[in-house]
Amino acid sequence: MSPHAPDQAETTERREARLQRGRLEARLAQAQRLETIGQLAGGVAHDFNNLLAVILNYAYFVREQLPEDSELRRDVDEIRRAAERASDLTHQLLVFSREEAIEPEVLDLNSVVREAERLLRRTIGEHVRLVTRLAPEGCRVSADPSQLEQVVLNLVVNARDAMPDGGTVTIETARVDAAARRNGLPESLPPGPYVLLSVGDDGVGMEPDVMAHAFEPFFTTKPKGTGTGLGLATVYGTVTASRGEAEIESTPGGGTTVRIWLPEASAPGHGE
Ligand SMILES: Nc1ncnc2c1ncn2[C@@H]1O[C@H](COP(=O)(O)OP(=O)(O)OP(=O)(O)O)[C@@H](O)[C@H]1O
Ligand SMILES: [Mg+2]
Repeated sequence: MSPHAPDQAETTERREARLQRGRLEARLAQAQRLETIGQLAGGVAHDFNNLLAVILNYAYFVREQLPEDSELRRDVDEIRRAAERASDLTHQLLVFSREEAIEPEVLDLNSVVREAERLLRRTIGEHVRLVTRLAPEGCRVSADPSQLEQVVLNLVVNARDAMPDGGTVTIETARVDAAARRNGLPESLPPGPYVLLSVGDDGVGMEPDVMAHAFEPFFTTKPKGTGTGLGLATVYGTVTASRGEAEIESTPGGGTTVRIWLPEASAPGHGE
């Protein structure tokens, strides 16, 4: 029997279509879940942020009233430190829920990576190797520069944490013309020119149930006091605010690659 019998080919095709539909539905369900969590978190974070500003201000006023040598100054400093940390967390939640006022600029992703490289190397330590493979041409995107740097940092720190015994983190950038919905463009994005950022590691990888929740705020598998679970949530918020998409490819024991798709920003003054 020929392995290419027509009805068998059709079955394969139909099977592929069914799988594709399944993937699309799962993706949509995940996006909707994240949207709902985002709205909820955004509302809470917004109110908390205002209250924390009040706490910080009054703690500051009280401190100013205390004599230099007052023992109470240290107590007030503790209040301020805790409020600052809480304010930091709410800030990240606001990024996730895209409530944070973003100031997008047209910038070159390659420059962002290059400028962060020193900090990244220092952050990952000696036992992890950092390899960068940047597209030879500029990778122009429209995003908030400090948030984009934070994206790269969060992904690299996650990669480092996944390789306690050392390994290699690879940062790659590329321009992808996904005009005809090819080149691996996620189904949720419209066709067009994109810039792709990939951060890959050869670390522990993720189990499917970890991967399914990884973008949710406060989801972490790290020991208490180490991770807050806001890293990938803020990555997701930043990327979707720029009308891009984030995807994870991972196998337990086989490493992880996070891919960030961002629409390419057209060159200023070029009518293309
Ligand atoms: N490169 C990776 N390899 C393996 N697992 C990962 C990787 N990146 C993320 N994860 C998993 O996804 C979870 C969520 O990641 P996320 O960055 O949101 O939070 P975190 O790293 O745990 O804490 P935080 O980033 O706030 O310090 C991690 O706890 C980990 O289980
Ligand atoms: Mg993290």
